[in-house]
Amino acid sequence: MKVPAPLAMLAELTHRCPLSCPYCSNPVELAARSGELTTEEWISTFKQAADLGVLQLHLSGGEPATRRDLTELVKGARDAGLYTNLITSGIGLTEKRMQELDAAGLDHIQLSLQGTDAEMADRIGGYRGGYDRKMQVAGWIKDIGFPLTLNAVLHRQNLHQLPRALEMAVEMGARRIEVAIVQFYGWAMLNRNVLMPTREQAKEAERIVAQAREDLKGTLVIDFVPADYHSDYPKRCMGGWGTTGLNIAPDGQVLPCHAAQTIKHLNFENVRDKLLADIWYQSDAFKTYRGTDFLPEPCQSCDRKKIDFGGCRCQALAVAGDASATDPVCVKSPFNEEMRALAEDFSAEETAEITYRTAAG
Ligand code: SF4
Ligand code: FES
Repeated sequence: MKVPAPLAMLAELTHRCPLSCPYCSNPVELAARSGELTTEEWISTFKQAADLGVLQLHLSGGEPATRRDLTELVKGARDAGLYTNLITSGIGLTEKRMQELDAAGLDHIQLSLQGTDAEMADRIGGYRGGYDRKMQVAGWIKDIGFPLTLNAVLHRQNLHQLPRALEMAVEMGARRIEVAIVQFYGWAMLNRNVLMPTREQAKEAERIVAQAREDLKGTLVIDFVPADYHSDYPKRCMGGWGTTGLNIAPDGQVLPCHAAQTIKHLNFENVRDKLLADIWYQSDAFKTYRGTDFLPEPCQSCDRKKIDFGGCRCQALAVAGDASATDPVCVKSPFNEEMRALAEDFSAEETAEITYRTAAG
């Protein structure tokens, strides 16, 4: 297969974050501040990404606002010709800082929502006062006029708040909302018993989203990430491994997806040692699961393999014990029954306690 250039890059600027959400997609072994790429190293990486063909840069974390050089990084990315999207909880942003980000050319903000009221949001985020601060930031986003996507992360604890999250997106002047039911990677894997939605909740969310798409046509675009343990077919994870996008960890490791470090037999290269283009086109970590040749049956003879590439490698490893296996979400996977049983069992746990994400060193 001819290897396409990546279109999007997610830069995890830091794993530091004032919140401690139990579904954080950062790895359980967080990268330390002392190992983070410097301003110059990030900007060099952004230039290389633009030369490689990347169009969109997602600045993420942890909380990217904990990097004091955030404005400089945005400016460097814009100078490289990249479209810049800031993925933030809002904590750590002041009005002045946001005006500076605007002046530096920041194109878009994606604001996360842990809950639709202070009680829920502060409990899930593990940060008292976080909700009120976020609402203040949402006001500044509106005043300055940043295009906004609200990112509502939903799970068993807060799925009943979905209708209010949709209303809030409209009130905030968001153009788009991502209704994302928690995917189980990183810290969320440790909290499947607390966060797993019930099958009824998963179905109800689909119904609400379908109705809202009708009602809010022309006002709000709704992206939906369904509860994949309750789905029949897997998602096209990362748009296909090594096909559409790549992630850079805070210490410069280049990853095919945010959970790739769970696949221990892969060796990830670093922008400190190699050019990004060489890593994308030639490194074993990207080549191993690129395309569909590595897939076993039933994927090989399935006409959906060009649609979903057999699903998610990290989920295949986590549940089936083999990263090259058919994603167990798929009804045709030999592990699908096990997956469904896990979903049932985890969603029925009533007394489970939240394991919060810890702070990065
Ligand atoms: Fe996708 Fe493989 Fe399932 Fe077919 S068998 S739908 S290719 S995961
Ligand atoms: Fe790694 Fe899906 S999260 S391939």
